[in-house]
Amino acid sequence: MKPGSSYSLMGRHISLALVALLVTTVLLWMWEKNPLATTLRSAQLQYQIPSSELLAKVPNDSSKTTKPTKVIEEQYSHPIISDGTKIEKEIMRAAPMESMFAYSPEMYDVEGVTSSSATEVCNYAKGRWVADSRRPLYSGFGCKQWLSPMWSCRLTQRPDFSFEGYRWLPQNCDMPEFERFAFLRKMQDKTIAFIGDSLGRQQFQSLMCMASGGEGSPEVENVDWEYGLVKPRGAIRPDGWAYRFPKTNTTILYYWSASLTDLQPLNITDPATNVAMHLDRPPAFMRRFLHWFDVLVLNTGHHWNRGKLNANRWVMYVNGKPNQDKNLADIPNAKNFTIFSIVRWLDSQLPLQPRLQVFFRTISPRHFFNGDWNNGGTCDNTTPLSGGSEVVQDGSSDLVVEAALNGTKVKILDITAISELRDEAHMSRYTDRGTLNVSDCLHWCLPGIPDAWNELLIAQM
Ligand SMILES: *[C@@H]1O[C@H](CO)[C@@H](O)[C@H](O)[C@H]1NC(C)=O
Ligand SMILES: *[C@@H]1O[C@H](CO)[C@@H](O)[C@H](O)[C@H]1NC(C)=O
Ligand SMILES: *[C@@H]1O[C@H](CO)[C@@H](O)[C@H](O)[C@H]1NC(C)=O
Ligand SMILES: *[C@@H]1O[C@H](CO)[C@@H](O)[C@H](O)[C@H]1NC(C)=O
Ligand SMILES: *[C@@H]1O[C@H](CO)[C@@H](O)[C@H](O)[C@H]1NC(C)=O
Ligand SMILES: *[C@@H]1O[C@H](CO)[C@@H](O)[C@H](O)[C@H]1NC(C)=O
Repeated sequence: MKPGSSYSLMGRHISLALVALLVTTVLLWMWEKNPLATTLRSAQLQYQIPSSELLAKVPNDSSKTTKPTKVIEEQYSHPIISDGTKIEKEIMRAAPMESMFAYSPEMYDVEGVTSSSATEVCNYAKGRWVADSRRPLYSGFGCKQWLSPMWSCRLTQRPDFSFEGYRWLPQNCDMPEFERFAFLRKMQDKTIAFIGDSLGRQQFQSLMCMASGGEGSPEVENVDWEYGLVKPRGAIRPDGWAYRFPKTNTTILYYWSASLTDLQPLNITDPATNVAMHLDRPPAFMRRFLHWFDVLVLNTGHHWNRGKLNANRWVMYVNGKPNQDKNLADIPNAKNFTIFSIVRWLDSQLPLQPRLQVFFRTISPRHFFNGDWNNGGTCDNTTPLSGGSEVVQDGSSDLVVEAALNGTKVKILDITAISELRDEAHMSRYTDRGTLNVSDCLHWCLPGIPDAWNELLIAQM
């Protein structure tokens, strides 16, 4: 081969490479300019539905389209919430959980038989609770700025607070002590998003208190507007909250999506409309803002029961149509299907967003003894760790989340077994519910157990 032809071949290679580079640059530039369109395109590929349909479902102005959904939620799920002084309606509406997770102490006897020394791999969910005088990490009196009074046990009649004085110690993991300035520095210019139900909101409030030291922090900016988190007219509260710590430009936000499905009212002008609950589509908010997040923490679970679905008028949809599949109509199966779907979607998005880390938080256990939430069930024990302080099992107690994450890049934030040991740390009977005589053995006192979830999250970030 003559040198000349080789050069021209090389030249052609170089110009091809240049063209490729140019195309990539233009594509990247377009993505920067209009990331929503790209997100939609990949969402469309993933779900194989016409882009026109999907575009129609994703608002270009979330304040308009989140409104009907919100109104539905407020009206049917949370009618008497929440100037902060009234207990969240949620717990009263919660029907008994489906039998998918039967939490009982005996579970550990069965599942904990594997030798704990079998593996030296760090598993944050395996270890023990230890008394620690440096807990809690903030004051329930002090963190008024972010803590809902309904979850601040220090503001209730509750007389016992020994539950505040413990820390989770993983067995084989190096877990540095939480220090809020180090945390904020680590999260410099980063955004942490919680999307999930009220237990996700508890974790969000906990992190806000941890990051601010539980003190008034007037410098923290509210940036709800950046995420379209406006309070819809007539609603009692917005869909979520977003705050920025200006020194490190760290953003922490929460968005309410109790089922992690896309919810679309079937008739926007009808206040009593049914709502399509698309089991195979992530919430519009998540599709829209995923590319803004560095850390995303998801959870769902306690809304997957007939009572909640009926109260919210949620109607299962699959593939854009009302669900016809008898198997999926069974709520535990629908929940499993949704968790698998959303995890698969996120796993497909992760290669497009290398800086994003996604955690799926396992289910938070309930502790109603001698009844359920609506028939006198209580959680009156006040002695910490009376059922033991250790988790020795290797796998998660949340088999659905564990199975859905297997083989994906979505990480598990496994808090189920460790929280199962803390039945004394719920709101219990100290809820502001007048004469209703019911206990809240689902939500946790803050400060409290969700602080430990955040410590585990931060260690794994
Ligand atoms: C939103 O979409 C409507 C039409 O669907 C359009 O008239 C409006 O200008 C859009 N708003 C923004 C902010 O893009
Ligand atoms: C702060 O972070 C946001 C995103 O979280 C970013 O848009 C903005 O440019 C950052 N500001 C500065 C001053 O770096
Ligand atoms: C939507 O709801 C409104 C108000 O209830 C009603 O007038 C209208 O007929 C409904 N539209 C459809 C298509 O059902
Ligand atoms: C959950 O869904 C996945 C994927 O659809 C399926 O493989 C698995 O068998 C389901 N698990 C249960 C417990 O239904
Ligand atoms: C509240 O419920 C408990 C448990 O069911 C019951 O023993 C008690 O008498 C009830 N108290 C009132 C004031 O109704
Ligand atoms: C994860 O998947 C592998 C095979 O892909 C299987 O052997 C293993 O049992 C799974 N683990 C769980 C917890 O589902």
